[in-house]
Amino acid sequence: MNTGDLYNLNPLMLKGILKKPRLPVSKKPATPENIANQLKKPYRRMPSFSYLADEQISNIIDFLNTF
Ligand code: HEM
Repeated sequence: MNTGDLYNLNPLMLKGILKKPRLPVSKKPATPENIANQLKKPYRRMPSFSYLADEQISNIIDFLNTF
C-alpha cells in the first residue's frame, strides 16, 4: 500500500468535505448530490453502499455538514 492509498483510506479525508469546492479524488463539485452518488455508485476503489435508504444517505450528509 502506498502513501496515496493510506491517505484515501483515512476517514479524516471526510473532514470538511462539503466546505471545499471539489471532491478530493475525482474533482467533481463537492455537493450533497455527488456525495450521495459516491455512496451508491462509488468512483474507483471505494466499496458501494447502494443498500442504504435515501433517508440514511441524507443523515450521513447532515452529519458531514457538522464538521
Ligand atoms: C459514510 C461513509 C463514506 C462516505 C460519505 C465516503 C465518501 C467518499 C468521498 C466523497 C470520496 C471522494 C470521491 C471523489 O473524489 O469523487 C471517497 C473516496 C474514497 N473512499 Fe469513501 N466514503 C465513505 C466510506 C468509505 C469506506 C468505508 C471506505 C473503505 C472501506 C472508503 C474508501 C474510499 C476510497 C478508497 C476512496 C478513494 C477512491 C479512489 O481513489 O479509488 N470510503 N469517499
